[in-house]
Amino acid sequence: MKSSQKSLSFINPRAKHNFQGRTCSIAGVGSYVPERVLTNQDLEKMVETSDEWITTRTGIKERRLAAPGETTSDMGAEAARRALADAGVAPEDLDLIIVATVTPDMPFPSTACLIQAKLGARRAAAFDIEAACSGFVYGLEIGQQFVMSRTYDTVLVVGAEKLSSIVDWTDRNTCVLFGDGAGAAVLRNRDGAHGLLTVCMGADGGKGSLLQVPAGGSAMPASEETVKRRLHYIRMEGRETFKNAVQAMCAAAEEALRRCRADISQVACIIPHQANRRIIDAVAARLKAKPDQVYVNLDRYGNTSAASVAIALDEAARSGRIQRGDLALLTVFGGGFTWGSALLEW
Ligand code: UT7
Repeated sequence: MKSSQKSLSFINPRAKHNFQGRTCSIAGVGSYVPERVLTNQDLEKMVETSDEWITTRTGIKERRLAAPGETTSDMGAEAARRALADAGVAPEDLDLIIVATVTPDMPFPSTACLIQAKLGARRAAAFDIEAACSGFVYGLEIGQQFVMSRTYDTVLVVGAEKLSSIVDWTDRNTCVLFGDGAGAAVLRNRDGAHGLLTVCMGADGGKGSLLQVPAGGSAMPASEETVKRRLHYIRMEGRETFKNAVQAMCAAAEEALRRCRADISQVACIIPHQANRRIIDAVAARLKAKPDQVYVNLDRYGNTSAASVAIALDEAARSGRIQRGDLALLTVFGGGFTWGSALLEW
């Protein structure tokens, strides 16, 4: 018997609202990672680091890098095509496209508009959201609100990043951590089924400077000086970010379980943001989860920010780690600071 089938005593918090049987479920998922692999050994030739340090401090062995000229919207569109095929939905049937990214192709038009054009999703409205590594979960919440309110029937949520374009390849503190890729989910009403049970979101803007790209916006527009001072790259206070990530990811996961009166033992698959193996292990230990409940792919992709849990969800579904009827729990943390969680019945 699957762990989620032990008891169906969890509740759907939406049941207390009058949605007349309407639920929002994930009808299809897809992901895309570029072909080029950058290994820890490759990084040893670029900065003062070692495979041993990266593996023991982060759990990352390799990451993917976009091909020259390959953009965030290219990767997002490919993940979206795969999610649409999985859901059996045509691009013209999409009502809305939400793209979570911190590496848009350009300030505007939005990456969502660029993906809309690439898909030929003529009827769809499109906009970007920015919640860093929490972006995909934020996107699920926004998307499900549109579905539950009957504003739209079919919403595409994409998490896509070309982090290699904002990584300082001379900074060993950060360049070993990140990778490129994209994941997508199609949200639809599924009458009578549980689908997305609850989504939690949170933020603490007071800690924004601990993880940021300082320049390139209106506060510090691009100039010769900002380029010279390398202010267009990711900067992170690693230790502080680590501590906040563990605390917030645990709290968010617990909040989702509490809202649904579910227990961690009922969850078949926990999908945490893939930033650091030690963060994932600490979160799992605090949640009293068993190691085999936790999905990990950061050894292969590193931290892909908004794409991270989207890619992992697709892989977990495709490999049979999540099966129909299972409970899956996403928990995320990122720049902002932002965090979130989602409990869903597959
Ligand atoms: O996606 C958003 C969320 N992101 C995260 O949650 C990331 C959170 N932070 C982390 O994952 C970890 O803090 C890091 C992996 C970034 C760093 O690990 P750490 O164990 O916190 O190391 P540290 O920053 O405390 O640095 C320890 C030492 C330092 O040397 P000293 O000062 O002790 O001599 C660093 O200079 O390790 C050194 N170091 C490296 N050594 C070899 C830092 N990066 C490297 C490196 N290779 N790549």
